[in-house]
Order: sequence, then structure tokens, then C-alpha cells
Amino acid sequence: MLNLCSDNEGPIAPKILESIVDANSGFAHSYGEDKLTGQLKEVFSEVFEREVEVFPVVTGTAANALALGHVTPPYGAIYCTGHAHILVDECGAPGFFSGGASMVKVKSSQGKIDGSDFQDLVDNWGAHGDHEPKPCALSITQTTEVGTLYSVEEILKLSELAHQHGMVIHMDGARFANAVASLGCSPADMTWRAGVDVLSFGATKNGALAAEAVVFFKKEHAKEFGRQRMRGGHLLSKMRFVSAQLLAYLEEGLWLKLASHANLAAKWLRDGLVDLRGVKVIYKVEGNAVFACLPERMLKGLLAEGYLFHRWPGEQGLVRFMCSYSLQKKEIDEFVRAARLLA
Ligand SMILES: Cc1ncc(COP(=O)(O)O)c(C=O)c1O
Repeated sequence: MLNLCSDNEGPIAPKILESIVDANSGFAHSYGEDKLTGQLKEVFSEVFEREVEVFPVVTGTAANALALGHVTPPYGAIYCTGHAHILVDECGAPGFFSGGASMVKVKSSQGKIDGSDFQDLVDNWGAHGDHEPKPCALSITQTTEVGTLYSVEEILKLSELAHQHGMVIHMDGARFANAVASLGCSPADMTWRAGVDVLSFGATKNGALAAEAVVFFKKEHAKEFGRQRMRGGHLLSKMRFVSAQLLAYLEEGLWLKLASHANLAAKWLRDGLVDLRGVKVIYKVEGNAVFACLPERMLKGLLAEGYLFHRWPGEQGLVRFMCSYSLQKKEIDEFVRAARLLA
């Protein structure tokens, strides 16, 4: 039955699974001293068109928490939207790995921080002097938790403001590939050229078994991150199998092919649902997610037929449909037909 609960619930992409099997011959040095891990820096540097520092880890939460914890001192504050995974879904891990930093919620619209709202905040900093946490990091998610996208210009505006105040810009790229595929820009344009300092590069949601990477665009931020990762328990002894996944993911544009298909699946779904009586699509569909309010009868009917998706906190009847790269058009069409019959 069609599963729209999460892209996490999809299968491993065959080429990535093969890469794990290929890596499974004989012995290789442990803790990232193997040949495959040794290739990551060059491959990522090529993708991002500059020298980067890359640290593979196995969850997106670890990538976010270890990265943010590394660039934020215990007395610092990390700014993000109220939807941010780092705020609502990581059980305080970024604050924990910084040694105590605070998380500050910034107003958002369509899942994004607006430059002028951020400017207002920035203008009001400092009134309490040493009594208030120091603004140290701004974290934005691309694609956002509600499936929308920051334009390159929007990222640039936020990073200019944040840099003026000595903050570091972190991008949660759990669905980074979906954003690159959708915007059609280069990974470099969407990150360091737009002022991003550190990226949580995701692969798991888009076909990997468990592979993410912290990518630093400035060497000084990466200093001693190896120890931070070790303390966080993400320096894997068998790192070669994580690195094999990342290499296969980036090889011959596989990551963008998979993400383009997931994005297309979301468009098919949106287009099929948007005109049905009682259905309201509430966020722009720019990645692989569709958020819609469905009439209760339709919602219950679809669940009763065995379709899998999550109700979402918020408005009455709100549902999140998250599309995996592995969904077929035929499956989406059948789902839309079932929804239409219930409309
Ligand atoms: C935007 C975002 N960031 C980070 C994560 C964390 O990924 P993981 O579940 O691998 O820790 C998720 C997972 O749902 C996510 O949606």
C-alpha cells in the first residue's frame, strides 16, 4: 500500500546497497582511515567547487547537533524557526552538544525565516548585555520542514545579516538534494556562495541506508570537529560502509536523479489533490512534501483503505504527505482516485 508517511520509510536505492556489498571485501582500516573515506574530501570538494572538510555520521540529528554544538559556545543561542527539526525533534541535542546553548525561535512564514523579521530581531539584540545568551548561530533548513524552499537571494540576505553579528550560518540539509534538484542551482550557489558556513548534508531520506555528512566550508570551523564527532559517538569503526554510501550517492548524479523523482511525485500528488472539494494545500510544494487539510471523511476513508500517511499538528484535518524517490506515478494516481471518490 502506498506509503506517504516519510521518505525515511522508503527502500535503499539499489546502487547504494550494491556499494555497501562492494565495500564488504576483506579488511579495511577502521575509524575512517580506510580508502573510501579518504576519497570523500575530494569528491565533496568537487561537488561544492571548493575545498571542504567532510565528516560522515549516520543520522541527521547527529549532523545537526554535532555541527551546531561545535560552532556555538555554552552561553550562545541558536536561532531557527518554530518548525525546525533541531528545535522540535531532536530532544535538545544541539544545546546538549554545545554544552548548554539556548534555542531561540524566530517567526516564520511558509516554513522560512523572513529577512525583515530577522532584521527586527537583530536590531533588538544586546539590551540585556551579559544577561542574555549571545546570538551565535542561525540554522535554516533547505528544503524546509514544510517542503518549501529558500531562494539563493533569501539565503544570502539572512547570512549577510547574521554575519554582521558574528553568527555562523548552518543549513540543515536533510533534504539538500531535493532543494538542489528543485532550484536547479549549483550546490555551491545554495551554500557557501550564499554565505552558508556549515551544512548537514543528508542522504538517508533520499536512498541511503544511513549516511549523512557534516560539511564545513571554512577550515577554522572544522578545527577539532573530529573530537566532537568522537565524543558524540559518530566516529564509526566500520566507517567504510558509510563512506561507500556517500560515494555511490554522489556518483553520476544519482542523488539528483533520486531527488528529482521524489519532487515530481510530490507535484503529481499536489496536482491530483488541489482541486478536490474540501482539500486545501497549505504550503507551496517545492520539494518532496505536500501538506494539505483534508475533510475528515476523506482522511478517515483513505486511512481505512490502508493508505499510510501522518496527521500533522496544526489545523483541523492537516496531513503531511512525504514522497520517497521510489514512488511510482501509477501509485499516486490510484491514491488520487481514491481521494476523489471520497471527496
Ligand atoms: C529537516 C530534518 N532534519 C534532520 C532530520 C534528522 O534526521 P535523522 O532522523 O536521521 O536523525 C530530519 C528527519 O526527519 C529532518 O526532517
